[in-house]
Amino acid sequence: TRRSLAQSAAMANAIKNVTVIGSGLMGAGIAQVAAQTGHSVTMVDIDPVAVGKAEKRIADSISRVAKKKFGEGDEATKFVSESLSRLRTSTDAVASVESADLVVEAIVENLKTKKELFSKLDNAAPAHTIFASNTSSIPIAKIAEATNRLDRFGGLHFFNPVPVMKLLEVVRIPETSSDTYDAMTAWGKAMGKVTVECKDTPGFIVNRLLVPFMFEAVRMVERGEASPKDVDTAMKLGAGHPMGPFELMDYVGLDTGKFIIDGWHKDYPDVEIFSPSPLLEKLVSEGKHGVKSGEGFYKYKK
Ligand code: NAI
Repeated sequence: TRRSLAQSAAMANAIKNVTVIGSGLMGAGIAQVAAQTGHSVTMVDIDPVAVGKAEKRIADSISRVAKKKFGEGDEATKFVSESLSRLRTSTDAVASVESADLVVEAIVENLKTKKELFSKLDNAAPAHTIFASNTSSIPIAKIAEATNRLDRFGGLHFFNPVPVMKLLEVVRIPETSSDTYDAMTAWGKAMGKVTVECKDTPGFIVNRLLVPFMFEAVRMVERGEASPKDVDTAMKLGAGHPMGPFELMDYVGLDTGKFIIDGWHKDYPDVEIFSPSPLLEKLVSEGKHGVKSGEGFYKYKK
């Protein structure tokens, strides 16, 4: 029948070999989940030290997942060893895409660096390989410009921590083909994620709403209308948020928040909700970057 033909076509296009470029916070998480869900994964970083650290973090995290899923015993041990056996590492991005069905890029948030990488990969990867970026704040279309495969390019935006967070935003640029979009979505589901579809708009869905929300909270404090603590209490108890906006900003990193808003402000100077905040600028310039630096809006024990 037509349906089973379409299904078998989809099966034939299914993504089996995944190359993840970048082995930092996000790349390691994406590589881990891909390995856990039966994909053959190559995780790449220019920094061999970063790769080594990521391998260790992944092994620890997979063990925790196995324990939660299967408790102690043979099944857990098998899950860990099989998952890890599907994971390879490399410091050579170009060589690592030779048999990739999908490349997910999770390197430093810098347009020039991402374009240089994709331009090299475009020449090295097979024609069918889909390219995706996990960028949080750079337009996918600007990154895709570095390649000649706009129809096989999209955004796959994961959330930290990747093994825990259920959501995957699947982003299409105008040129992204339906086959590419379908393959990315099917892969997201195979990764155990719930996918949502979004156009290539700043912040996609989650950050487009969350970042202005966090900056409005800072503006309330700048105007002296309420304290960070009371804003957090109010949003947790009055709106049911699991974290208040200041706790969230400290967790995400004030430097990251500033970086995102500065980029959007540059691209959209007329959108008032994307304007920078003097209070945030001050904290960042004092090295108060949030939980990771020991202080942001709140103080943390190191
Ligand atoms: P990170 O700083 O933890 O890791 C980046 C890694 O990329 C580093 O290990 C670095 O050595 C490597 N790298 C840099 N240039 C490279 C190159 N040319 N080739 C290969 N490897 C290279 O960064 P993180 O937080 O994992 O972010 C990565 C990407 O994911 C960024 O685009 C960011 O916007 C996005 N993102 C971050 C989220 C977060 O919560 N941190 C959430 C969702 C997306």
